[in-house]
Amino acid sequence: MPHVFPQLDYKPEMPKRLDHGVGIIGAGGIVNYAHLPAYKKAGFHVVGIVDKNRERAERTAAQHGIPKVYATVAELLGDDNVELVDVAVYPKEQAAIVEQATAVGKHLLCQKPFADEYAIAVRNVELAERAKVKIAVNQQMRWDAGIRCARLLMDEGWLGTPTYATIQVHCNTNWSLWPWIYQGKRVEIMFHSIHYIDSLRFLMGEPAYVFTSGSRGVGETTQAETKTLTVWEYSSGLQVLIDVCHTTWQDDPYAIFRFEGAEGVIKGTIGLMYNYPTGRPDTLEFMSKRNPGYWFSARLDSMWIPDAFVGPMASLMRAIEDGSEPETSGRDNLRTLQIVFAEYRSMAEKRAVRPEEITA
Ligand SMILES: NC(=O)c1ccc[n+]([C@@H]2O[C@H](COP(=O)([O-])OP(=O)(O)OC[C@H]3O[C@@H](n4cnc5c(N)ncnc54)[C@H](O)[C@@H]3O)[C@@H](O)[C@H]2O)c1
Repeated sequence: MPHVFPQLDYKPEMPKRLDHGVGIIGAGGIVNYAHLPAYKKAGFHVVGIVDKNRERAERTAAQHGIPKVYATVAELLGDDNVELVDVAVYPKEQAAIVEQATAVGKHLLCQKPFADEYAIAVRNVELAERAKVKIAVNQQMRWDAGIRCARLLMDEGWLGTPTYATIQVHCNTNWSLWPWIYQGKRVEIMFHSIHYIDSLRFLMGEPAYVFTSGSRGVGETTQAETKTLTVWEYSSGLQVLIDVCHTTWQDDPYAIFRFEGAEGVIKGTIGLMYNYPTGRPDTLEFMSKRNPGYWFSARLDSMWIPDAFVGPMASLMRAIEDGSEPETSGRDNLRTLQIVFAEYRSMAEKRAVRPEEITA
């Protein structure tokens, strides 16, 4: 019997225990403004932190009440109180940490992108599987309120068979927060749209083909793409459009999603992208043939930063407790990365690419 009203219980499912010891590697921006505020709200137990810039680790520890600062990654990994490692460093550095942590049997929450080469991501997953430790990826947009509510509405049948999905974000990104990203060869898809790719997979499943056009704004100094237009094609006839531009100078930035199905429509805004990293709550509205003529709107009281950052960590802790796989496991993330690299191949070769073409 379908519900007359939707059940939008979108907050993350919490682990049974909150005292799993978390050791953090990297004391940069995202740890300070997202990971640690989220963990404080959730009541997670952070044991200690390390950064190759010790002063940064000390400042972060003092600001967030973390009891221990380690001198080295090896020292953190050698602490028996650390049950799982929360990694928030650049992808190039992350691979070495995965190798060290799996060798001593620590569970891992890695930052996105899980790796900047597909073969390295596969290796990360294999190392964790061999060591019998859990490995998850911080693709926390799946727990962002608008996306999670859309999933719940779809699970309850309000949308019906999906026919069209889009995420469109035109904003003005301050790349000076991440100068090392802007100087790289891959920017927009690898570090930003990877969230939309993972969320759209979560909602719509795996596309058969992807086609991407990438470009830059006038006068930009990066060699990489900062504007992308992407189409995904599904064998069911479902079409997906991802339209992202980071160089919008106009004073009307927008960040919207819209999901259409045979039975309904879900649409809303991605609050974080209106003024990153402060953000604002998402909005969500939907209409369904079950209640023709009525648009429902939900009032969402949580934010992508920091609230959604509870999701991947809670999911990893639950997986440790019951032996299941984290929702955003390393293995699941290989599919997200196949699409990321398929989109880059599509850009380079000017053709539609099947994600399965990407192999290690
Ligand atoms: N929404 C998100 O999920 C989100 C948002 C922003 C950044 N990120 C990701 O988080 C990662 C870090 O981003 P950031 O903005 O915090 O960068 P940042 O430059 O502010 O901080 C990175 C920190 O890691 C430290 N570090 C680097 N390598 C290390 C190593 N081997 N051992 C110990 N410390 C090391 C650096 O000294 C620095 O303090 C990036 O991979 C980025 O893609 C994710």
